[in-house]
Amino acid sequence: MNAAATATASKPAPSRAPLAKPPLYKEFQIYRWNPDSDEKPKYTSYQVDINNCGPMMLDVLLKIKDEQDQTLSLRRSCREGICGSCAMNIDGTNTLACLCKVNRDPGHVGKVAPLPHMFVVKDLVVDMSNFYAQYKSIKPYLQKKEVAKGHEYYQSKESRAKLDGLYECILCACCSTSCPSYWWNSDKYLGPAVLLAAYRWIIDSRDDMTAERMKEVDDAYKLYRCKTIMNCATVCPKGLNPGKAINKIKQSLAKGSPV
Ligand code: SF4
Ligand code: F3S
Ligand code: FES
Repeated sequence: MNAAATATASKPAPSRAPLAKPPLYKEFQIYRWNPDSDEKPKYTSYQVDINNCGPMMLDVLLKIKDEQDQTLSLRRSCREGICGSCAMNIDGTNTLACLCKVNRDPGHVGKVAPLPHMFVVKDLVVDMSNFYAQYKSIKPYLQKKEVAKGHEYYQSKESRAKLDGLYECILCACCSTSCPSYWWNSDKYLGPAVLLAAYRWIIDSRDDMTAERMKEVDDAYKLYRCKTIMNCATVCPKGLNPGKAINKIKQSLAKGSPV
């Protein structure tokens, strides 16, 4: 071994370990209900060191599940606002737990509940069957009378731009479950998420079933239970405006063609 190599090898590497922050405990109250138990639903309190935890509410919930109670049930997958599965009610607002920053005030008590007015399967997991059935009912896919041979279905840039603000929906149901009309009539009213998807296909220049799609939603309950309350646009974690899309469907029906 030469002298230079010996000198380098004997030098201790500088420590880059971050200094540990002192613990900062905060209380979180989480809705708990187990269908296999006779106990009524309740909020259970957990103390979490938010200085030793990721910055989002999903991090807090997973830390509680990892370190305090493995029976806590919640849905999550992507942890970056793409899959829509971690939708829940946090401090009174429907949102995605993975995009919701923890309020770092230790004097504030965080409150987490399932999406409102939905049947609860367990803890923070709600039954999405009706929501998905309603989505399926609007046929959320391209319908063509003739299948193109050897090429894609073309669309102008202007026509494609009409889908902006619509196609980004991740079906989290934050909007529908914040809508009072949907709370009271979710069996018959399609709700903002599904109507936004309906409009997305009504306005798509490539689709051949525009008139049928418009006729299908032209119904006192399916569409016109929307009373322009606009909670849907306030809560959408993707910044979409389902209330505006619903209004566009109503205008299209009044005109007799998509606007
Ligand atoms: Fe979620 Fe927004 Fe889509 Fe509603 S419109 S389902 S809130 S992404
Ligand atoms: Fe409900 Fe949004 Fe209409 S909150 S009433 S769907 S504008
Ligand atoms: Fe996918 Fe939150 S985990 S949107």
